Amino acid sequence: MRLLLLLLLLLLALIGSAAAQAIRGFNSGGIGPKGPKSQQDFEAEFNKIKNLPGTGPFTSIRLFTMIQPNTASDPTVAIPAAISTQTRLLLGLWASAGQDAFNNELTALKAAITQHGEKFTSLIDAISCGSEDLYRITPTGIANKAGIGASPDTLVQYIQQLRDAIKDTPASGAKITHVDTWTAWVNESNFAVTKAVDWLGMDGYPYYEKEHENTISNAGQLFFDSYNKTVAVSQGKPVHVTETGWPVAGPKSGLAVASVENAKKYWDQVACRLLGSVDTWWFTLDDAKADPGEISFSSIKPDLGDPLFELSCPGE
Ligand SMILES: *[C@@H]1O[C@H](CO)[C@@H](O)[C@H](O)[C@H]1NC(C)=O
Ligand SMILES: *[C@@H]1O[C@H](CO)[C@@H](O)[C@H](O)[C@H]1NC(C)=O
Repeated sequence: MRLLLLLLLLLLALIGSAAAQAIRGFNSGGIGPKGPKSQQDFEAEFNKIKNLPGTGPFTSIRLFTMIQPNTASDPTVAIPAAISTQTRLLLGLWASAGQDAFNNELTALKAAITQHGEKFTSLIDAISCGSEDLYRITPTGIANKAGIGASPDTLVQYIQQLRDAIKDTPASGAKITHVDTWTAWVNESNFAVTKAVDWLGMDGYPYYEKEHENTISNAGQLFFDSYNKTVAVSQGKPVHVTETGWPVAGPKSGLAVASVENAKKYWDQVACRLLGSVDTWWFTLDDAKADPGEISFSSIKPDLGDPLFELSCPGE
């Protein structure tokens, strides 16, 4: 009996330490309020996420492309910034602009590996082939004018190309993922992508789910329902949350109201349950929306200012 209790305690301790290690990250676009972010801009942002008042340190950043803006295939300056600040990375290769553009993404990734070696590759949490490419080719994506996407067949080919590109490099052990909306993951026509990745990157935004009762009070329920649905079709692979958040400003969406107050309620309902137990990249730290009428998912004031709402969790 006592042994059983001891084993149980040990198990709980193990679960506890695994949970404490879950990745806490933010999404980060390459464009800031003044245009493409410089290495210094990225460094300031990466230092910011580690020192946010009220919440445990965030340590990882999700990028959408390997390529520095205004170059053909130079690696993004986010990489030296991550090395100098020891920030972890969920890398992203843009996969919706055709084979030539994808080749440039691979070129940039390989150049960064050659240039920085293990100083870079030791920081890689995973590499995502694409972002919401499958969502963009659905009737909903097309109706929302989400832009050009990619088919599941194309993504499976790109994933193989990515695996081939990092083979025999210091990045060869990196986990390969794809990021898409939960609705794309539960769609049977996309299961070949699920089969091709090491884990599933799930994006979920109850704010946009106008077809459901998407009031803020029901938002947590909607989010975890979609998370559970994705887990149910994940072929036993881990499901990590690569994007979620609630806008602090913007138009009404179904029953969803964008406001700082509701963003805080969403943080309490969703972030506070995910952070520490599921690898999560929140959307977002600062989306650099200049026009107050525009939809914004920022968590902090402009110019890396104070949080817009309390980032601590109830009972913390
Ligand atoms: C399901 O996925 C396929 C392939 O990606 C896509 O063409 C189709 O529109 C999706 N269906 C829905 C209802 O989103
Ligand atoms: C999701 O699954 C977990 C674990 O099975 C369960 O505790 C939770 O209630 C589920 N959430 C929803 C919204 O269905």
